[in-house]
Amino acid sequence: MENAVKRIGVLTSGGDAPGMNAAVRAVTRSAIYRGIDCVGIRRGYMGLINGDVVKLDASSVNNIINRGGTILYTARCQEFLTEEGQVKAVNTCKLLGLDGIVAIGGDGTFRGALDLSKYGVSVVGIPGTIDNDIACSHYSIGFDTACNTAIEAIDKLRDTMQSHERCSVVEVMGRNAGHLALYVGIACGATAVLVPEKPIDFERDVIEKIRIARLNGRTHYMIVVAEGAGSAPEIGKKIQEEIAIEPRVTVLGHVQRGGTPTARDRVTATRMGYHAVNVLAEGRTNRVICVRDGRFEDVDMVEALQMKKSLNEQEYAVLEAMTGA
Ligand code: F6P
Repeated sequence: MENAVKRIGVLTSGGDAPGMNAAVRAVTRSAIYRGIDCVGIRRGYMGLINGDVVKLDASSVNNIINRGGTILYTARCQEFLTEEGQVKAVNTCKLLGLDGIVAIGGDGTFRGALDLSKYGVSVVGIPGTIDNDIACSHYSIGFDTACNTAIEAIDKLRDTMQSHERCSVVEVMGRNAGHLALYVGIACGATAVLVPEKPIDFERDVIEKIRIARLNGRTHYMIVVAEGAGSAPEIGKKIQEEIAIEPRVTVLGHVQRGGTPTARDRVTATRMGYHAVNVLAEGRTNRVICVRDGRFEDVDMVEALQMKKSLNEQEYAVLEAMTGA
């Protein structure tokens, strides 16, 4: 099968993540290295439906390893959820002579890739999401940069909270997962962290932690809330009602999705892109690239989508010991 693959496509889909460009670059360069043509599909599956494509050569991916966002643009495409949309996308693959697609994104992106594969298109997924919620992989492209962005913002908040002796409630992204909040919470020395994976007892998990911190002499408090665990304005309101301090609320929002990717995101993206092209070149399909304990591997896409990712319990235990002080 080795030389059967002549041309592949690469797309980014769903929410963008810093490091996606590094992955597009790696797919392009790895394909060229193996004598395979590479085509960029713009705006995710919508681009596949509309034939919105761009030829990628070695120079078209110059100077993007350091850039956030995605040069291929991204979209969440409703039409692709229909059979009609999928047939159009498959026709584009046939028209362009694509022997495989590398789809960079999260769970939704991989579900789209699986839909394509049902029509005989070879597909490989690369985890790219700041949520780090792809169960088969310990790490998803963009997580480290998003953590650092959030930490930088929270450090700044801490300065002013300290001066005014205030309480800050900060909401971080993560969709239904708390990986980002947990990691950020440890790194910024939060007073309390709320994540959707753990049942929340407001008195125990927030109020009591603020009280203990207060008794320890602390006069400013940092409460980190994963968006999936509640809304920061509501939590701020509850704090005010219960202990009569007036918190300041910050929803970090999409700032977490942008910015220059960190070394970890660039290198992970590059290694995943390289691995994805190898998988397609070997004639394999329906795989998701993952990194486990530092090793880059690939797993079956159907199995990958069935797996559930839990919080890192060792990290959570550390957080429990560090908060409320
Ligand atoms: O999946 C990435 C993510 O940033 C989530 O953390 C967040 O819930 C969601 O995307 C926001 O999506 P949108 O960009 O469509 O508002």
